[in-house]
Amino acid sequence: MQNPLLTGLRIERKAGPCALIIFGASGDLTKRKLVPAVYSLARQNLLPSSFFILGAARTEMNDDAFRQAMRQALEEHGDEGIADETLWESFASRLYYIPIDPAIHPTAENFTKRLNELDDQWGTGGNHLFYLSTPPSSFGPFIRMLQENHLNRSEGWVRIIVEKPFGRDLESARSLNREILEVFHENQIYRIDHYLGKETVQNIMVLRFANGIFEPLWNQRYIDHVQITASESIGVENRGSYYEQAGLFRDMIQNHMMQLLTLVAMEPPAAMEAEAVRDEKTKVLRSIRPIRKEDVDKIAVRAQYADGAIEGEPVSAYRKEPNVNSGSHVETFAAIQFFIDNWRWAEVPFYVRSGKRLPRRVTEIAIQYKRVPHLLFPNEGEQLQPNFLIIRIQPDEGISLKFGAKLPGQKVRIRQVSMDFQYGTSFGARSPEAYERLLLDAMLGDSTLYARGDFVELSWQLVMPVLEHWQEVREIPFYPAGSWGPEEADGLIEKQGREWRRP
Ligand SMILES: NC(=O)c1ccc[n+]([C@@H]2O[C@H](COP(=O)([O-])OP(=O)(O)OC[C@H]3O[C@@H](n4cnc5c(N)ncnc54)[C@H](OP(=O)(O)O)[C@@H]3O)[C@@H](O)[C@H]2O)c1
Repeated sequence: MQNPLLTGLRIERKAGPCALIIFGASGDLTKRKLVPAVYSLARQNLLPSSFFILGAARTEMNDDAFRQAMRQALEEHGDEGIADETLWESFASRLYYIPIDPAIHPTAENFTKRLNELDDQWGTGGNHLFYLSTPPSSFGPFIRMLQENHLNRSEGWVRIIVEKPFGRDLESARSLNREILEVFHENQIYRIDHYLGKETVQNIMVLRFANGIFEPLWNQRYIDHVQITASESIGVENRGSYYEQAGLFRDMIQNHMMQLLTLVAMEPPAAMEAEAVRDEKTKVLRSIRPIRKEDVDKIAVRAQYADGAIEGEPVSAYRKEPNVNSGSHVETFAAIQFFIDNWRWAEVPFYVRSGKRLPRRVTEIAIQYKRVPHLLFPNEGEQLQPNFLIIRIQPDEGISLKFGAKLPGQKVRIRQVSMDFQYGTSFGARSPEAYERLLLDAMLGDSTLYARGDFVELSWQLVMPVLEHWQEVREIPFYPAGSWGPEEADGLIEKQGREWRRP
């Protein structure tokens, strides 16, 4: 199906009749993201009249209690709260809940019966979008339950969205892929990476492929290197036990940051269609120079935050966070260098870093261009800054081009100035939340912004030597909370005559 990414303004993107079935509907994600996103779609009139949500989890609750909980969730997390009582009444009448434990057969039978009844009542034609919003340990039981109850096929279409994390290493990702593929076809599986739902991330493709001026300069002849940064000022908050299992590299780099890297590095796809775009992204992963375990210390750094201060307020070390082992070796910061061995990117380093308790929350891609081949302006001994193209994913979403300009005066003195585009001021329109976009895409059968099975496996395959090496060498450097990471991360890039940007 044609992807409306570039033609979205012309194509009416309204979902057809369907049911959204959320497994894990008593959980945090349903309250904070999923139901607010669907409510926002309803407010924009992007949902059909033949639509309902069936929430399911082990917690005992009836429809009324679920509706009440979702009303409260919208008041707390919705864009505009309830906003319109008539809209809420209509939305609430489409919200249902049924207790289910996938391991207990009768509850699954009740679930199937209820789903069929609601299908008949709302005329959804058996079109089912399942959403696995449970801990990964329950993905398998729910998938088997769907198979045993013949819910992987229907008279309409059946799709399944799988939350992250998709595996915790190559082996578990492969095994999860195998398990799902025994029950669903690849084109029914939607592996979510909410980064891809962000407007600014989709705009990377628009910037590159809808403008004539960037693409000719988008290669190793003109680009010195690329830096991709995702920093957060918060710590692990109440996610200590999850983080102890995952660590930053699994949580951020293997998935979100590899997605950003491939969007920057991919070749123009043959068409803006799911398979064409995903083929190109996968090709980038195949071209990344494999990392040998013995080279990990030369190209990657990890560290953990120690006591420090953020905006003048003292904050505690990771090891003192709730549910964190006081001798933990888990990383809260990682930086790594990749090379993409193809004609476009030969010998251009891609530096990727991410961390918690860094000075500010920012996600950006910085393309640094090569310096001019011959310098005509001595600039009073000051080094001329290179050109940068900065794509800011969040916050202050936008794009900046940095270049040198002459300071007014008799002498030639050059300063770096910035040409800025900001989403907020340029369009004056609200950007849809990532989950809105992604849920609507799944209802429309457009998987362009979802990860394909081979991408997930390749991405794990690439990073496994790093994770294995860190597992063996447990010692970990520290950085003060509120700093831009450990000295070792500066060393990684400085030994190549470059430096990290301070976003
Ligand atoms: N929260 C976020 O911002 C966020 C962001 C990205 C990804 N995710 C992912 O989204 C998923 C859900 O996250 P969450 O934050 O909503 O987690 P959560 O608050 O812990 O909720 C988990 C849900 O799964 C249900 N559940 C747990 N074990 C179950 C079992 N054995 N059988 C049936 N249901 C079970 C729980 O309900 P009962 O106990 O009632 O069964 C609950 O509804 C996770 O995979 C998480 O990694 C979350």
